[in-house]
Amino acid sequence: MIEDRMRDELQALLAPHGQDHLLAFWEGLSPAQREALAAEIRSIDFSQIAALYDKRDVVENVRDLVARAGSPRAFRLDAARNPFSPDEARQRGADALAAGQIGVILVAGGQATRLGFDHPKGMFPIAPVSGKSLFQIHIEKIVAAGKRYGARIPLYLMTSPATHEETVAFLERHDRFGLAEEDLHVFCQAAMPAVDAASGKVLLHAPDRLALSPDGHGGTLAALRSSGGLEDARRRGLAQLFYLQVDNPLVDVAGPEFVGYHLLAESELSTQVIAKRDPLERVGNVVEVDGRLHVVEYVEYNGLPDEIARRRNSDGSLAIWAGSIAVHVFDVAFLERMADRADALPFHVARKKVAHVDSRGTHIQPAETNAIKFERFIFDLLPWAARAIVVEVDPARAFAPLKNAPGKKTDTPETVRAQMAAEHAGWLRRAGIEVADDVAVEISPLLALDADELAKKITPGSPVTKPTYFC
Ligand code: UD1
Repeated sequence: MIEDRMRDELQALLAPHGQDHLLAFWEGLSPAQREALAAEIRSIDFSQIAALYDKRDVVENVRDLVARAGSPRAFRLDAARNPFSPDEARQRGADALAAGQIGVILVAGGQATRLGFDHPKGMFPIAPVSGKSLFQIHIEKIVAAGKRYGARIPLYLMTSPATHEETVAFLERHDRFGLAEEDLHVFCQAAMPAVDAASGKVLLHAPDRLALSPDGHGGTLAALRSSGGLEDARRRGLAQLFYLQVDNPLVDVAGPEFVGYHLLAESELSTQVIAKRDPLERVGNVVEVDGRLHVVEYVEYNGLPDEIARRRNSDGSLAIWAGSIAVHVFDVAFLERMADRADALPFHVARKKVAHVDSRGTHIQPAETNAIKFERFIFDLLPWAARAIVVEVDPARAFAPLKNAPGKKTDTPETVRAQMAAEHAGWLRRAGIEVADDVAVEISPLLALDADELAKKITPGSPVTKPTYFC
């Protein structure tokens, strides 16, 4: 009886949107499976899905934006024309860190499909000598910065339903890599269903499960608030949150220089970029339109057209030069203001191959794109900021994203390890230690967070000729 009532309730939710095929296998499901399916169905706003599907060809029509896109003003690496010097910025950032005003958001909800790793990407053993995971590297940087500045730096770590349980268990198993329990807030982002591209019908992953995937890192805003994270940040007196993606072990996490530029410029949202090394480099493009910053993605079906990406200025430099490395600083009050606006972050459409069961219960592994997923991107907050700045960093030193499986051309475990080792060899050489070419070296964040700190802690000794981990 109860289950009949449940079926009727779900039917009433689904039928007005033509989604009642989701109950096609109801009769054959166990009570537990019915409960699970019902919970997933109730979590979906089907009118929102219908509206997004109807607008699928215009939702993120960026053509107009692209046509008017110009180079953003930026704090360039050659600091000569920047309004503040790196030293001034470092001092300002260090003061804010010492005052306990800075927290960190780490987003780790992605599914690591391209990497082909069966666990959350943060668990991938990436360090060139010690084999530390991405999570360990990021968290040790936070722990070390906390010690350096004598302040607590809390971490707000975002997972997704796909990565949550394993991530929590992994961090517990390793005692949060030294981070105090009260300084770690793990929160889970929401999911969105994939729909059939031709009909808009929500796909079933299995007879008792919808084809759900994380709602994009734009989901950070809503999930941070609903999990109590924003409130926690406010209660602790945090004024700024440093944001990074789990896939890049070279980020200077909570680095004082970037935080300092953000504060000196009174920015609400600051973002790090690299000068693109290739016009078609697979990074988001930071552009300026009517005085506002935007990111135009490389992937979307109507993203930056190649001919515009290839445009050059008279001096030969790229017109659309600023590649986003997805490292930001957010003003907490700005995030609070934006969390109140349901329209702040639009959904983007991604056309993907999504495995599902068809109406007869047959499992389909599509060879061609068959589905649409909807995702929000956190960088869409940029145009909303009253003031936003762009800060250039050196890709060799700050950007080594782990995206692809071993053996591919770029952004693989091999390329990331080589880049980490090269960066750390540079620190050792600056400290007066010879390192033979092609020898893997690694410096623990707990020993030094940068070349200057290393130089203070280590005395020149014999040359390094075999793989060495400095800790
Ligand atoms: C992303 C950026 C791109 C930037 C590049 C730098 C987007 C859309 N594009 O590209 O502008 O140049 O990184 O490396 O983000 N994540 C979640 N939840 C989600 C989806 C993603 O937490 O629902 C996290 C992932 O765990 C990862 C990060 O966001 O840490 C990036 O996601 P990914 O899909 O790998 O983005 P890219 O296409 O590589």
